[in-house]
Amino acid sequence: MMIIDGKKEAEILRQEIKKEIESLKSKDNKVPGLTVILIGDFAPSQIYVKNKEKSAKEVGINSNVVRYSKEVTEEEVLKKIEDLNNDIDVSGILVQLPLPSQINKEKIINAVSPKKDVDGFNPINVGNLSSGYNALVPCTPLGCLYLIKKVEKNLSGKHAVIIGRSNLNGKPMAQLLLKENCTVTIVHSKTKDLKQECLKADILVAAVGVAKLVKEDWVKKNSIVIDVGINKVGDKIVGDVDFDAVKEKSKAITPVPGGVGPMTIACLLKNTLDCFKAR
Ligand code: GUN
Repeated sequence: MMIIDGKKEAEILRQEIKKEIESLKSKDNKVPGLTVILIGDFAPSQIYVKNKEKSAKEVGINSNVVRYSKEVTEEEVLKKIEDLNNDIDVSGILVQLPLPSQINKEKIINAVSPKKDVDGFNPINVGNLSSGYNALVPCTPLGCLYLIKKVEKNLSGKHAVIIGRSNLNGKPMAQLLLKENCTVTIVHSKTKDLKQECLKADILVAAVGVAKLVKEDWVKKNSIVIDVGINKVGDKIVGDVDFDAVKEKSKAITPVPGGVGPMTIACLLKNTLDCFKAR
């Protein structure tokens, strides 16, 4: 049994990114730029954005946060996105979700230039990913795949089961694993026998936001278990997997915290660097 150290893997990836940025900077004195738009005062978003900004700066990305009150109009945000799309110093744009109710998420996501869409949420990138073309890929599933491949390089023919069908995670995760030649099943709240489906998994990715949903008798022996969940239970953060019960049965498992979370931000930095290089 192996506990996958997401903190360590993220640190390795960040160091690689930092080195590459230093080397690019020494050539033409330019560095990637990342602008995050943060609307309102939703507490978790404040923390996520602070972490993104700090990590970006540490690797040499020029990071900016544009803050709006929760009363801001959709028009104003769209105008800002247009300005950022046209700003040659901005390589990547990220609009932190969730958004207040007067702002249409679909419109905002569509407004971000597909070339600067470091979240990989724009339908152009979603379509390119599902067609198997070059695309910017959402950071969390990208980080999950990175960790899975640290355990096992060749995933061909493996049965992957993904719990959750969100655009942020479940759906892009399925596309990435299909590209790796896995047999992919997505299960969700309307699935008839969740446990029976999960038992088929060589690779199990849990991304539903239900604390400790995945029990020991849901996982096949020697499977790889990736836990995307961040659930607050009392004053503790737990994943979607009952970690202590499942770990002995798995071949490799991510802890929460310290598993997928750190990789998500490292992949955001990677996407920002890729946008910068593609200009
Ligand atoms: N809110 C929670 N996760 C994310 C994410 O990955 N990207 C954005 N933009 N907002 C989020």
